[in-house]
Amino acid sequence: MDKFVIRGGNPLVGTIRVSGAKNSALPCMAAALLTEDEVILENIPQVHDIETERKLLVSMGADVNLGYGRAQHRTTICCKNLSDPVAKYEIVKTMRASSLVLGPLVARIGMARVALPGGCAIGGRPIDLHIKGLEKMGATITQEHGYLEARATRLKGAHIFFDKITVTGTEDLLMAAVLADGETLLENCAREPEVADTAALLTSMGAKIEGAGTSTIRVQGVTSLHGARHRINPDRIEAGTFLIAGAITQGDLIVDNCNPAHLGALIDKLTQMGVSVETIAPDQLRVRASHPLYAVDMSTEEYPGFPTDMQAQFMALATQADGVSQIKENIFENRFMHVQELVRMGANIKVDGRVATVRGKTTLSSAAVMCSDLRASASLVLAAMVADGETILDRVYHMDRGYERFEEKLRSVGAQIRRMGNVFATKDTAPENI
Ligand code: EPZ
Repeated sequence: MDKFVIRGGNPLVGTIRVSGAKNSALPCMAAALLTEDEVILENIPQVHDIETERKLLVSMGADVNLGYGRAQHRTTICCKNLSDPVAKYEIVKTMRASSLVLGPLVARIGMARVALPGGCAIGGRPIDLHIKGLEKMGATITQEHGYLEARATRLKGAHIFFDKITVTGTEDLLMAAVLADGETLLENCAREPEVADTAALLTSMGAKIEGAGTSTIRVQGVTSLHGARHRINPDRIEAGTFLIAGAITQGDLIVDNCNPAHLGALIDKLTQMGVSVETIAPDQLRVRASHPLYAVDMSTEEYPGFPTDMQAQFMALATQADGVSQIKENIFENRFMHVQELVRMGANIKVDGRVATVRGKTTLSSAAVMCSDLRASASLVLAAMVADGETILDRVYHMDRGYERFEEKLRSVGAQIRRMGNVFATKDTAPENI
């Protein structure tokens, strides 16, 4: 299994470019199931989760060309022939976002068999709200042998209120509703930019959607959708990770190809800590930190609140702030696995239920540490970039799921980071991830 070797101490200086958003690309790729025509997606990130989704669609009979070699990472997907509409466990167990094919498959061909994703490192990750919504739209859902089977001659429009705000639940049912008979009203929806990005693609395919990006979405079902071309949003979590990388290394970093409007909660917290974050162009942020940081409290919330996907990275920064930071994780029940690894590097962090108390500033020292999930891995890279000595990060396949060329990008702005590969391991032999 690949490892990262990171020597701390270098401030990051220069310009670092953000890739397309993995969490937009995944629902947008699933949306291609809704039409027989070709769908072209640009700015798809070259990360392992996208490869997993490619395999999933191909296993169902779709033609998928990720097109990374081409300009704009132009991906073409054609789901004309869905010979085997089954999301198999071997694939679903490595990426729970596979459940995003449920709604589109039932909407397009009237049935779907999807392996239940099971839990993952950060929590139980149920999909009960996806199921409840589809049943309200008239689908018959049975569960056996670890698979969910959904059937409907044609879904019908319904009024669905999400008991909990769910990002992929909103996306899944939005994709079900666009081909349903009649109007669907979705309430208490997720407002994440990735929902609006998916809706933008669906609209360009001929869907009739109002309110995407707000908590209430209204959909007028149509009988069919056509192909389209769509450019994926920049990845706001990668951009946020780079902002913290510039801050924690006391550097002067320009984060390019990002959307500052998607980063409000993080920018506010960084500013409170004494970090300078300036919008220097519509798609560029400049981050600088050259003096002691102030400790601030933070609670993760659904968008536009502070993103749970930035919690681990923020915690690494909090170890370098003077004072006590209380970090509350409100979204997932087990998203503090980076804590013990940060403590092994010298951080002073105590966890009580969903609250982690960080006492800084602590000098971090290099250690051999283990990645446990995608964002926890990013947190350890950030900590290693300020730790004394050389840190070895194991199981970096977690990083490869959602960060494109991460070590190359960081090296290009001064980080001392290199990948140590294991010639025998392949990503496919990696144990399941989130
Ligand atoms: C999406 O996951 C993201 N993944 C996650 O990013 C992100 O952390 C999460 O949203 C929250 O922002 C993708 O978009 C592919 P949820 P999702 O449904 O949709 C509960 C990353 O690092 N819930 O919004 O699976 C659930 O248990 C990943 O890129 C139910 O109870 O998350 C959680 O407590 C990690 N029943 C809360 O809702 C359901 O049917 C929010 O989960 C669905 C969710």
